[in-house]
Amino acid sequence: MSGRLKIAITRERREDEPRVAATPETVSKLLRTGEGVEVCVERGAGASAGILDSEYEEAGASVLAEPAEVLDGAAVQFTVRAPPDEAIPHLPREAVLVGMLDPYRLNGLLETWAGAGLTTFSLELLPRVTRAQAMDVLSSQSNLAGYKAVIDAAAEFERAMPLMMTAAGTVPPARVLVMGAGVAGLQAIATARRLGAIVTATDVRPAAREQVESLGATFVGIESPEAENAETEGGYAREMSEGYRRRQSELFASELKRQDIVIGTALVPGRPAPRLIDASMVTTMRKGSVIVDLAAEHGGNCELSRPGERVTAHGVTILAHRNVPGRLAASASALYARNLLAFLTPLIDDGELRFDWDDEILAATVLTRDGAVVHPRFRSPPSGEAAGNA
Ligand code: NAI
Repeated sequence: MSGRLKIAITRERREDEPRVAATPETVSKLLRTGEGVEVCVERGAGASAGILDSEYEEAGASVLAEPAEVLDGAAVQFTVRAPPDEAIPHLPREAVLVGMLDPYRLNGLLETWAGAGLTTFSLELLPRVTRAQAMDVLSSQSNLAGYKAVIDAAAEFERAMPLMMTAAGTVPPARVLVMGAGVAGLQAIATARRLGAIVTATDVRPAAREQVESLGATFVGIESPEAENAETEGGYAREMSEGYRRRQSELFASELKRQDIVIGTALVPGRPAPRLIDASMVTTMRKGSVIVDLAAEHGGNCELSRPGERVTAHGVTILAHRNVPGRLAASASALYARNLLAFLTPLIDDGELRFDWDDEILAATVLTRDGAVVHPRFRSPPSGEAAGNA
């Protein structure tokens, strides 16, 4: 029989996090998932994503001022980032915490959550299976980041993007190179194409070639037996060998000279981002070129990127915004909140949470439960090498 199932959403505490984990739309859908379901939102939680407290209230949530009150008696907390330590004691034992918890960089927090009896799910770890697509936070956020990276580059670039034939003469189209043709990269290609640029893209996964070409861009890459195995079972890239990287550097050294804009999106889960552009390559680029490094927070695809800074070197501007999806906070929150809704809905049965721990989605994403760190990748002691290829 259904009891009370309270879902809590607090304001994100990190200064660089404007997103919010629920929207009025998802609040009203959550309330319809079962009898006894209630949603409680901290005052101001949606402010930086353009959502008013009154909109949450109209959708059926209660809005409270104190985070402790919001979390009191909660069965579930939805969050964008890992909540601060001081919030944890307010959550009841056995409460469920769902978010983008960045498990590779938790540094001891996992043990705190396990000790507090929390069941925690990190949605970056979702398997890329069809059933999980609606929950895929990496895809929803990377898509927006890929789009925004091109918009940021276009705003910084002092020339026009499309070919323009005017009475005063012709403006040539900009040339854009997209490094990494995953979710963000493909959206960057599509956006740059829509703006009229000539687009080239690269990736280590051979499957990317067809996707790049289907968007009207040219694929450049290294053909080697190693590339055939570059994709993990999870669909991600592996870290490549020294020899492969050397060949890639030679390719990029000649390619970069011809480009106006470079969008770096290449990542390897749990590893530093591949370094694809070194400082010497930047010196060969055309003056006025722009690099947007979406991988900056993971170490950067460009050696000269500094997270959160705008660097100019040899006449080339290198942008490395932090939290690029957060720069489109309203859209990013709308999609992220739907991802969370899609994750939680199948777990609610007659107003209660039920977990099938054999389910591949739960098994892949659960970090802690029953007082222990249970995820095989993060179970090892802090000194262990927990991080590996996905
Ligand atoms: P990601 O964000 O981990 O990496 C971005 C891209 O960088 C990837 O395409 C990767 O191959 C590339 N990369 C890594 N190292 C590189 C290097 N040294 N040089 C050049 N490129 C490098 O990956 P993302 O974007 O999250 O997606 C990976 C794959 O998963 C894609 O094929 C995507 O289409 C697929 N996918 C499948 C979904 C599904 O439900 N079936 C959902 C979302 C993504």
